[in-house]
Amino acid sequence: MTEVLRVDAETPDPAVVEHAASVLRAGGTVAFPTETVYGVGATALDASAVRRVFEAKGRPPEDPLIVHLAAEDGVHLVARDVLAIAHTLVRRFWPGPLTLVLPRRPEVPAEVTAGLDTVAVRMPAHHVALAMIEAARAPVAAPSANRFGRASPTTAQHVLDDLEGRIDLVLDAGPTSVGLESTVLDLTREVPTILRPGGVAREEIERVVGMVEVSGSTAGPAPSPGMLESHYAVAPELVVVECPDARATPEVLAEMTSLARRYGAAGRGVAIAAASDDVLGPDAEVSRLGSSKDLDEVAHNLFAVLRSLEAGGAEVIVSRSFGEAGLGLAIGDRLRRAAAQIVVPSQRPRGPEST
Ligand code: TXA
Ligand code: MG
Repeated sequence: MTEVLRVDAETPDPAVVEHAASVLRAGGTVAFPTETVYGVGATALDASAVRRVFEAKGRPPEDPLIVHLAAEDGVHLVARDVLAIAHTLVRRFWPGPLTLVLPRRPEVPAEVTAGLDTVAVRMPAHHVALAMIEAARAPVAAPSANRFGRASPTTAQHVLDDLEGRIDLVLDAGPTSVGLESTVLDLTREVPTILRPGGVAREEIERVVGMVEVSGSTAGPAPSPGMLESHYAVAPELVVVECPDARATPEVLAEMTSLARRYGAAGRGVAIAAASDDVLGPDAEVSRLGSSKDLDEVAHNLFAVLRSLEAGGAEVIVSRSFGEAGLGLAIGDRLRRAAAQIVVPSQRPRGPEST
């Protein structure tokens, strides 16, 4: 049985927070809101509790978890050799959607880090998460609270859809604000490297620490073990049209319209997920992700729209990327990872008849 408790996102009831902390201290699993997506956590220093999180998600043990902290100086509980650059990033971005990969302290169980000698840490910008971690008096290891291979949950209902009966407690504080997971930045390499683009844009990090590298947003061997969680984020066939900018070009809009028409003609149930200002043909129902001038809004809505189209029975979803600037990098990354097919409009697209 999974218990569900509502809690105010701004001023969480201390009794609810204490209850969640007591479940954690007893080795249980708790799904909780962060500013990015919901996580499902266990006390990071309790290996058997951490194993329960992997079991609940159906996550392979070689995919390491992020350790969540309630305070900046907690980083020293789990990481060692924390360099000046890490302190600079922590001061600028914590609490917030930036995860740092640092050398691991030996106290962190191998289960958390999948045997790596590095550990990923972040301090989430959410009152409920912070209060719960503080009350648990221990760092909390937590992946996103979805079944392995599904889109991350941005509401408590998404969590229940995937994990009801498999975890002990869900704290429901309403929809998360960012809507995409944190940026994972590896500080153990010569040049800081973004392993997973996310809620903090590359440009924002570069303004603080200079050039960073980005790995893994395109094909090739998975640089971060978590890039395993790809390919099957939604059940419908997702077709992503590559768009060079946040604003759609006429070629991109024409391509989306023609793909929708062709899939529809082939008898497939087609839906389109597009910006609110994208002007498209009448060939499919269009779900709006948000304004192309406001990628915060697109990021906030992306997973919820994909999950709702899936629940509505769409067989094919046609969507588009939003360029590589700002949050466009993370939005494009998530869409590409979930895509069955990626179409570049200048090239000759593959239609349904060739699949
Ligand atoms: O916003 C988020 O990051 C959410 C919320 C709940 O905090 N969490 C999240 O966790 O997305 P998860 O487990 O779904 O993704 C964690 C990512 C994975 O890609 C994983 O491989 C990577 O972080 N990661 C964790 N530890 C790592 C390490 N030591 N080295 C490299 N990558 C690591
Ligand atoms: Mg995840």
